Amino acid sequence: TEIPLSEKNIILIGFMGAGKTTIGQLLANKLDRPFLDADQEIEQKYGMPVTEIFKCMGEPAFRQIEKDYLTKLCHNSRSKVVSLGGGSFMQDEIRQACLSSGIVYHLDLQWEEWLKRFEALIGTRPLLQSKSLEEIEELFNSRKIVYADNHYTIAVDAQNPEQIAEAMAQQIR
Ligand code: S3P
Repeated sequence: TEIPLSEKNIILIGFMGAGKTTIGQLLANKLDRPFLDADQEIEQKYGMPVTEIFKCMGEPAFRQIEKDYLTKLCHNSRSKVVSLGGGSFMQDEIRQACLSSGIVYHLDLQWEEWLKRFEALIGTRPLLQSKSLEEIEELFNSRKIVYADNHYTIAVDAQNPEQIAEAMAQQIR
């Protein structure tokens, strides 16, 4: 059975550092909906940061945890704002669960803008630590193609998180 539009989860996707968590939290406040950050939920459940999960259990284990958590969430949750980790949408099952049960927003930024944020991200993003800048740019470009397969794309380069959340809220209300 189809979920009514007003009860669908609003799901934010995009590359690391696009602002999914910050914008998601602001948007949830504006819409008066509960907010969930997938990585934060997983960190709480496992009692360690994502970097530690990568280190102790490996990336494949993290991907499995991510898949279990998000497919369940899509099945059980209504009317929430949910920020995904940057890699979640690369998994078919997650992508399909999100697209069929929620409304997906891609927070899209240009590589030049992302480069300005790189330094601030590297400490907490295991995927960036093992790669050269060239490899990161390749990952950025290949993921953008997958992120584009969604409902809406929001350019986040020029505006601050508050302005972006406000524009999104007006579109959704
Ligand atoms: C990842 C992004 C991270 C986190 C993990 C892997 C990725 O989330 O899930 O480090 O594969 O892009 P953010 O997008 O919130 O940084």
